Amino acid sequence: MREIDANTITPEVQAAWRGAPTPRMRHLLQRLVAHVHDYAREVELTPEEWLGTLQFLSGCARISDENRNEFALLSDVFGLTSLVDLLNLSPGATTSSVLGPFYVEGSPPLPLGGDLANDNPGEVVLVSGKVTDTRGRPLRGASIDMWQADINGFYGTQDPAQSDENLRCRQDCDDDGRYWFTTVLPAPYSIPMDGPVGSLFRATERSNWRPGHYHFIVRAPEFRSLVTEIFFSHDRYVEIDAVFGVRPELVVGVKPVAPGTALPTPLERAPVKRVDFDFALAPLRDAGAPQNG
Ligand code: BEZ
Ligand code: FE
Repeated sequence: MREIDANTITPEVQAAWRGAPTPRMRHLLQRLVAHVHDYAREVELTPEEWLGTLQFLSGCARISDENRNEFALLSDVFGLTSLVDLLNLSPGATTSSVLGPFYVEGSPPLPLGGDLANDNPGEVVLVSGKVTDTRGRPLRGASIDMWQADINGFYGTQDPAQSDENLRCRQDCDDDGRYWFTTVLPAPYSIPMDGPVGSLFRATERSNWRPGHYHFIVRAPEFRSLVTEIFFSHDRYVEIDAVFGVRPELVVGVKPVAPGTALPTPLERAPVKRVDFDFALAPLRDAGAPQNG
C-alpha cells in the first residue's frame, strides 16, 4: 500500500477519475481536484471550517426546488456565472450577461410598437433597436424575449400583487431586425436574501443589490442565442452589482423624448423617455465557444 500524505493524495485522487467517459470530463474532474486540494492546503482548512462549508451547502440544497436554485445564486455571487460568460464571448457579438432566476419560458407575444407598461406605475419608456450579425447586417427572423422587474423591484412571478405575465414579452422583429415597444423602467432590487447566500451576505456586510435592468434573450435562425441585460447609467448600483453582470457596453443612458422627435410607428403609447440598444449575434458556426463533452 502506498503512503499518502497531504501532497501525494492529489495525484491519487486524480488517477481515480481516469475512467471518465470523455477526455474533457476527465480533464474537468482532475483539474477540479487539483484546485480544490490546493485551496485546502493553501488556507490550511480545518475540520470545523470544512464541516461548516458542508452545512452551508446542505442548507443551499434544502432551500432549492424546481423554482429556486440557491446553487445558481451562489455561482452568481461568486462571479462564476459571469466568468463563464466572459470566457465564452463571441468576437463582435453583444456581450452576454447573467440569466438570473426569473426567466419564464412562453412570454406573451407583443406586436411591434406594443405597450408593456399597461397599468404599471412609472414613466413610459420607448425601448428600441435592431438585431444584426457581427458585421451590422440586419437579421431577418430575429426575435427578442424580454423580462424585467417593476418600479418596486419585483418580477411578476415573485409578487402576488402582479400577474405572472406582467412586464415580460416576446417580440418578433421586422424584416430589418428592428424591435420597439413601450414599458416602464425597472427599479434596482435585492438578490433573494432568505436563504444561506443571504445569511452569508449579512455576515460579511456585502451589498445585496443589483442595479435595475432589462433582461433579454435574442434569437435568430442560424445564430447563437444571446442572453444579456441592459443597465442604466443613472443607477446608483451600476458599479456594485451583487452578481457582477454589468459591463460598460451594456450600460445605456435613458434619454428624454423631446417634443416633435420622430418615433417609430406604429406606437400604442406615447413615451416620455427612450432607451436605444442594438444587439449583434454571432453565427452558430465558428461561434468561438469551446464545447463541453
Ligand atoms: C436577476 O437578474 O434577476 C438575478 C440574477 C442573479 C441573481 C439574482 C437575481
Ligand atoms: Fe433580473
